[in-house]
Amino acid sequence: MALAIKKVGVIGSGQMGNGIAHVAALGGFDVVLNDIAADRIKSALATINGNLSRQVAKKTITEEQRKQALARISGAERLEGLADCDLVIETAVEKEDVKRKIFNELCSVLQPEAIIASNTSSISITRLAASTDRPERFIGIHFMNPVPRMELVELIRGIATDDATFETSKEFVAQLGKQVAVSEDFPAFIVNRILLPMINEAIYTLYEGVGNVEAIDAAMKLGAHHPMGPLELADFIGLDTCLSIMQVLHEGLADSKYRPCPLLVKYVEAGWLGRKTQRGFYDYRGDKPVPTR
Ligand SMILES: NC(=O)c1ccc[n+]([C@@H]2O[C@H](COP(=O)([O-])OP(=O)(O)OC[C@H]3O[C@@H](n4cnc5c(N)ncnc54)[C@H](O)[C@@H]3O)[C@@H](O)[C@H]2O)c1
Repeated sequence: MALAIKKVGVIGSGQMGNGIAHVAALGGFDVVLNDIAADRIKSALATINGNLSRQVAKKTITEEQRKQALARISGAERLEGLADCDLVIETAVEKEDVKRKIFNELCSVLQPEAIIASNTSSISITRLAASTDRPERFIGIHFMNPVPRMELVELIRGIATDDATFETSKEFVAQLGKQVAVSEDFPAFIVNRILLPMINEAIYTLYEGVGNVEAIDAAMKLGAHHPMGPLELADFIGLDTCLSIMQVLHEGLADSKYRPCPLLVKYVEAGWLGRKTQRGFYDYRGDKPVPTR
């Protein structure tokens, strides 16, 4: 029932886009990487090369695999460059209007049988699917960050997603060597429904002065055996993405327990988005991260 996937398009060349392109190319797929900003495609290719080289140094892949994977990835500054892809994964910013605009343009160039997936962290797959010409061939394929290292991928069917699309996506994820968790289409799915309220609560803990940045992160690392503190993790995810997910949870579930912390809003308004802008709950511009509060 599954369809043959050979060529994969990736829209958005940020931290998730470069990771998805990396694992798809290593998995043997041809990859076309797109972004609205041409320089992001270039820097994504450089990041992928650096990360593949690190894998070669660690002997998890061979030099030959690195070369072959890189040769499979090309960049496209316009969506027309994705016209002959069998599967296109959208991983642009977590804003519904941006994603809808992309799908609208994509549908006009993409072959009708191709599958469209979104890597959204939280937005309704059914609603995104309804903005395309192919809701039955639309699905949520939600990778975790950092993509090359994390084992899990959530698969989310919209109300109209057909069995062939689901089975094809499942096989695609298996070919990347990752495990699938199936989630129903509810705001933020499984992982972020649980993880983001915890991060938001950590930010409230900081906001209310219960602890400072270092104390909160140390408490959860040493006291709950989390590999990263929640504020460190928020910086890693991106504070804009964290805020967007909390807003989707707050609006979608209409429960005040999901209210985004005002301090999170303030950091995003300042443009302090975490690691990607060098400043968030920590300042990353020096030799080692320094708390900003
Ligand atoms: N950061 C995480 O931990 C994480 C984990 C899983 C899923 N996601 C989801 O992945 C998506 C991307 O997140 P990210 O962390 O990579 O963000 P990012 O800010 O690193 O990258 C987003 C990229 O999208 C590009 N972009 C914006 N508008 C575009 C358009 N119209 N067309 C093409 N490209 C466009 C930007 O130029 C940027 O390069 C979001 O939907 C996010 O919720 C993020």
